[in-house]
Amino acid sequence: MAVQHFLAASALLLSCLAVTSYAVTFSSLPRTLVLSVSTTQGHVLRAGEDNITLAWSLNTSLPVGTDSGYKTVKLKLCYAPISQKDRAWRKTVDDLAKDKTCQHKIASQAYSSSSSTFTWTLQKDVPTGTYFVRAYVHNSADEVVAYGQTTDAHKATNLFDIQAISGSHVSLHVASVCFSAFSVVSLFGFFFLEKRKSKSSQHK
Ligand SMILES: *[C@@H]1O[C@H](CO)[C@@H](O)[C@H](O)[C@H]1NC(C)=O
Ligand SMILES: *[C@@H]1O[C@H](CO)[C@@H](O)[C@H](O)[C@H]1NC(C)=O
Repeated sequence: MAVQHFLAASALLLSCLAVTSYAVTFSSLPRTLVLSVSTTQGHVLRAGEDNITLAWSLNTSLPVGTDSGYKTVKLKLCYAPISQKDRAWRKTVDDLAKDKTCQHKIASQAYSSSSSTFTWTLQKDVPTGTYFVRAYVHNSADEVVAYGQTTDAHKATNLFDIQAISGSHVSLHVASVCFSAFSVVSLFGFFFLEKRKSKSSQHK
């Protein structure tokens, strides 16, 4: 009886997995969105402070109706090849379920056939690196059906750099904490010495 239940549960689980993990490969997606970012190649942006504005629209040279099944546009910040080097946890895999190129969600917007924009303040937790932005188009079943990106197919043009909230800020912070602690200790030390002095003068 228990074994039967177990088998039934396993079969159910497997079928659910089979349904949810259909593999969509990046290489199978058509590039139909024209996506641009309001920053220039090589410009260094500061995480937690600077903003980027993304603008996207359907490529006008595509046949009318190309976007009929489009429902949402999910914008993501992606690592350029130079920031993926020697970092397996940012690796590009064609199977989108396993791909680690675009780890930072920027926004999810309803698809509109007219052009759209979105301004994003870079999140504080974005690490220092070189990036581009990709927009994944989803249909009403939430399947990825198309994309657009701010760089070319080789991920070589229009890349931008993000500077994380810098380490020097952190060390400055540490230094000021140490300095405060030192001041407190020296204050106590001074107080203690004064007390001893006054005690010894009382004994005389
Ligand atoms: C980014 O946008 C936010 C919110 O609109 C604004 O407060 C901030 O000043 C902007 N930062 C820069 C560097 O323009
Ligand atoms: C728009 O699509 C055409 C045809 O596929 C392509 O040649 C062109 O490069 C695309 N334009 C942009 C800006 O992506």
